[in-house]
Amino acid sequence: ADYDLLILNGLVVTDTETGEYDIAVKNEKIEQVAPRGSFKDATAKRTIDAEGGYVMPGGVDAHVHLQEPPLFGKGSTADNYETGSRSAIAGGTTTMVTFAPQRKSEDSLLDILKATHAKAENNCYNDYSFHLLVSNPSHRALSEFKTLRAEGISSLKIYMTYEALQLQDGEILDVLVEARKRKITTMIHAENGQVIDWMTAQLEKRKFFAPKYHAVAHPEMAETEATYRAISFSEFIDAPILIVHVSNRAAAATIKNAQDRGLPVYAETCPQYLFLTRKDLDKVGFEGAKCVCTPPPREGEEDHDGIWDGLANGTFTVLSSDHCPFRFDDAVNGKKTCITDEFPAGQFKYIPNGIPGIETRLAFTLSADRLKLNKFVEVTSANPAKLYGLWPRKGGLVTGESDADINIWYPAGKLEPFALKNEMLHHNVDYTPFEGKVLNQWPRYTILRGEVVWDRDHGGLLGKKGYGKFIKRDASCLAGSRQEGEWDIPE
Ligand code: URP
Ligand code: ZN
Ligand code: ZN
Repeated sequence: ADYDLLILNGLVVTDTETGEYDIAVKNEKIEQVAPRGSFKDATAKRTIDAEGGYVMPGGVDAHVHLQEPPLFGKGSTADNYETGSRSAIAGGTTTMVTFAPQRKSEDSLLDILKATHAKAENNCYNDYSFHLLVSNPSHRALSEFKTLRAEGISSLKIYMTYEALQLQDGEILDVLVEARKRKITTMIHAENGQVIDWMTAQLEKRKFFAPKYHAVAHPEMAETEATYRAISFSEFIDAPILIVHVSNRAAAATIKNAQDRGLPVYAETCPQYLFLTRKDLDKVGFEGAKCVCTPPPREGEEDHDGIWDGLANGTFTVLSSDHCPFRFDDAVNGKKTCITDEFPAGQFKYIPNGIPGIETRLAFTLSADRLKLNKFVEVTSANPAKLYGLWPRKGGLVTGESDADINIWYPAGKLEPFALKNEMLHHNVDYTPFEGKVLNQWPRYTILRGEVVWDRDHGGLLGKKGYGKFIKRDASCLAGSRQEGEWDIPE
C-alpha cells in the first residue's frame, strides 16, 4: 500500500486553517495534507471516511497530575500513568505533560526525573513529557537545569502557596534567573499562601468548616495579588512565565496588561473556570467536596464570560485540564480523609484539592460552542505544543513534520446529545464533578502516531498500554526573554 492510513472527506481544522483536505499517514507521520480527492488513486492499509466531521490535531494537555505523593494536604492522586493516560486517550488527548514533583526534603531534580520516568515508562496509552515541579530550589537543584534541558525538559512549575511547596520571593527570583539562562519556561501557581492561611484561620475561628468555605478561604484578591507579583518578578528578571489555572477576571486583566506591554507572560485556564461556580461547592453534606479545586470556581456566569473572553482575545495561551484526581469515597487518600469524629461534615482545609478532567476537557469545550474552531485547536493543542517545545511534532498537521496524532469529531449536530456519567469515563476516580452535564460532542476517532487508539462507535478504547512514549521537548517557540545576558553570571 502507498500509505498506512488515509482520512478522506473531512473538514480539516488546525490553529490557522480550515479546509476540505484529505490526509495521508505513513510511518507514524503526516505524510501529506492535500486538497479533497488528491488520493483517489492511492492505496492504504486503512481508510477512514470522515465525511462532514472535523479533523483536528490530537489534544495536548499540559497540566496533569498523576501518581503524585501527598503534596496538597492529604492524599496521593488517584490516577497512575496507566489510568490517567487511558482516560486521556478516550477523550482525545494524545499528548500530556505531567508533573515530576520534588518534595522540600528532596534535593536532586535529576533523581526526581528518573523516578518519574520509571512510573511512566511502558505504562502510557498516550505520548507524554514532564514539567519538573520545584519546591526546593537548592544550589544543586538549580545547577541541574542545564542537564534537564539536555534530557528534554524545558519547563517547570513553582508554587506561591501550599505549605509543602511554597517558595519565598527570593527563591522565585533564584528560579527565574536560572530558568531564563537555560530557556526554561516557569509555570507559576499564583496565589498568596499567607492570605489563604490567614483566611482559613479566620473561618475556623468562626467554626466554618464545610466544603463551601474553601472558596471563601481563596479570595480572588489572593490570586490577583500573586499574579501581579509573579509578573513583576518576571519583568524584573526578564524571564518568560506562564500563570497556571487562572480563575478570575481581575487576574486575567492583570495578565493582559503585561502582555500588552510586550512581556513574555503567558496564561492558562481550565474547564472548571468555565463550567463550575462556587455554588457547586455549596451542596448538602459533603457533596461540595467533589468540586474543591484550587483556585476555586468563582461566582457565576459573568466570571465564566470573562474567561471565555480571555480565551477568545488571546490572554489565555492554553486551556489545560489541571487533572488532579482524588477519589471521593476513599478513607486513605480521598476527599473524605478530612472527615473525623470531631468534624463529621469534614474540615475544608484538609480536603485534597483537585478534580479529574483529562478526559472531558476537549468535549466540554467543543460542545460549549463558544470558540471559533481554529481557536479551539489553538488553545487545546497547537499553543500548548508551541509553548512547551513540542511543536511542530505535536499540536499540528504539518506535512512531513507532525506525528499523525489526529482527532476526528462527529459532524456538527450528528451526535445525539447525551448526559455525562462517571461510568463512561476511564479514570480511576469514583465521581466526576460534571455528572449529568449534557454534551453534543465527543471524539469519534482518536489516532496516535497513525494508530487508531479510540473508536467511539466500534470498541471504544483500542490503544495499548505502553504504546505511548516519552517525547523530548525543545525550548518554547513563543517569545521568551527580551534581552540576552543581563542576569547571566559567567560559569
Ligand atoms: O486543585 C488543584 N489544582 N490541585 C492542586 C494542583 C495545582 O495545580 O495546584
Ligand atoms: Zn497549581
Ligand atoms: Zn495543577
